[in-house]
Amino acid sequence: MFKSSNILMAIVLAVAVHAPATAQDVEAGRVKSQVCAACHGVDGNSMVGTFPNLAGQSWRYIYIQLKDYKEGRRTHEIMTPMALPLSRQDMIDIGNYFAAQVPKPSSFQADPDKIKLGMAKANETLCAMCHLGAFAGQNEIPKVAGQQYDYVVKQLKDFKARTRTNDAGNMTSVAQTLSDADIENLSHYITSIR
Ligand code: HEC
Ligand code: HEC
Repeated sequence: MFKSSNILMAIVLAVAVHAPATAQDVEAGRVKSQVCAACHGVDGNSMVGTFPNLAGQSWRYIYIQLKDYKEGRRTHEIMTPMALPLSRQDMIDIGNYFAAQVPKPSSFQADPDKIKLGMAKANETLCAMCHLGAFAGQNEIPKVAGQQYDYVVKQLKDFKARTRTNDAGNMTSVAQTLSDADIENLSHYITSIR
């Protein structure tokens, strides 16, 4: 009896975590994310290469990153203090708000030759094994299609240099195999995906 109520509790919790976002969650997230808009855009489409787009990102990935900044597993001079005051519910609401926004195509002028080389490298390195085809992302694995060029370059370099380590080792080991030219080509390709 005791055991089955524990199992029931686990199911109730699992359902609560995976329940689809309601309009109220998204609206709560919109209000809570007003302070974020200056850099990430009101609709999660950033206007600056070093500020990542959040529109259309999975809510779960956004939630995990905010939690990692808050708890020190990922550090950044701007984002660490931004995440510190957020509660778990704030992070979930904000994640749901940005996940519900429509991504806009990047205005970055990607080089066609670098796009081709980047696509070949992505196929060779099996990025799609985790990020799915065309870097669409799934659950806690981020969508990177159409992400800001400068931001993508910085993240791949940070993983390679092990200054970003909140990825359970997945990206750290992938990034060791990438040269600076590979990182540039991959970032041209990723940014150009619509
Ligand atoms: C002053 C500019 C600024 C503000 C304001 C800001 N951010 Fe950021 N944000 C950044 C930068 C720069 C990065 C990239 C940091 C890095 O390289 O780790 C980032 C990264 C992120 C990431 C990680 C994205 C990814 O793809 O991994 C999330 C999530 C995020 N911010 C959410 C927020 C939220 C939510 C708020 C408001 C509570 C906010 N940010 C406010 C500049 C800002
Ligand atoms: C074994 C699974 C796996 C493979 C293969 C993989 N990734 Fe990732 N990638 C991840 C995970 C998981 C994260 C998120 C890590 C975290 O939570 O901080 C990530 C994060 C990223 C990010 C940062 C996104 C952001 O918004 O900050 C970029 C860029 C990226 N991957 C590009 C690539 C490229 C390019 C390849 C192929 C060369 C690749 N990944 C292969 C699992 C993988």
